[in-house]
Amino acid sequence: MLTQIHIAETPQQVAEDFARYFAEWIKDKPSAAVALSGGSTPKVLFRLWAEQYRDRIDWQKTRFFWGDERCVPPGDEESNFKMANDLLLSEIGIPPQNIHRIRGEADPEAEARRYAEDILRTVASRHGLPSFDMILLGMGDDGHTASIFPHQMELLSAKALCGVATHPESGQKRITLTGRVLNNAAEVAFLVTGSGKAQKLGEIVKGKKGSDEYPAAHIGPAHGALHWFVDQAAAAGLR
Ligand code: 6PG
Repeated sequence: MLTQIHIAETPQQVAEDFARYFAEWIKDKPSAAVALSGGSTPKVLFRLWAEQYRDRIDWQKTRFFWGDERCVPPGDEESNFKMANDLLLSEIGIPPQNIHRIRGEADPEAEARRYAEDILRTVASRHGLPSFDMILLGMGDDGHTASIFPHQMELLSAKALCGVATHPESGQKRITLTGRVLNNAAEVAFLVTGSGKAQKLGEIVKGKKGSDEYPAAHIGPAHGALHWFVDQAAAAGLR
């Protein structure tokens, strides 16, 4: 596994760095299965893609999935799909068949199975598991990633491709890709910004004792590349 850390001054510059990397990475690919992350960090990237990369990337060959989704309807402000659709997908004219939404409105266990079947049908397998070409991830202040939280570490090694998670504070149900799928991607790119992430990020990158309690510490494509795109505030723990 190759690990690269890209440090930029501000969240906007993190998004610009990643957008440049992504445009170069995708340009010679016939198609790309890309899993998006949720939360607030990707908003800057999605706006940038819609405003400045609408015509600089062949979005028709990109198939969008999600690394996780909150179990809410697609029109809910909490929905990761709604955020991506409002800021990006509705702006770049992506063919509907290229959008593989997790149905947050459905029964969680049934949806985890359905989404896994959709992935099995549409994402090429490598090393015996579906292998996304690129997975975007964020990291929570508690070291969670996708919707794999510290109190549910079993989702990292689960046999199923997708699992049902529970947010530790709100109890909100989530659907998440499991660790084996995340780690079977060709490339994983974390976008992490803000001082709230600095301590955990530093512990994870330095392999500090105790960092294995953070799900994000267990993410690294066994056969691919791991990127950390971070701003100076989040990188404070790296120095
Ligand atoms: C979600 C995300 C989650 C997110 C982290 C960081 O559904 O919330 O997938 O894993 O990436 O919680 O969130 P912020 O970007 O808001 O800090």
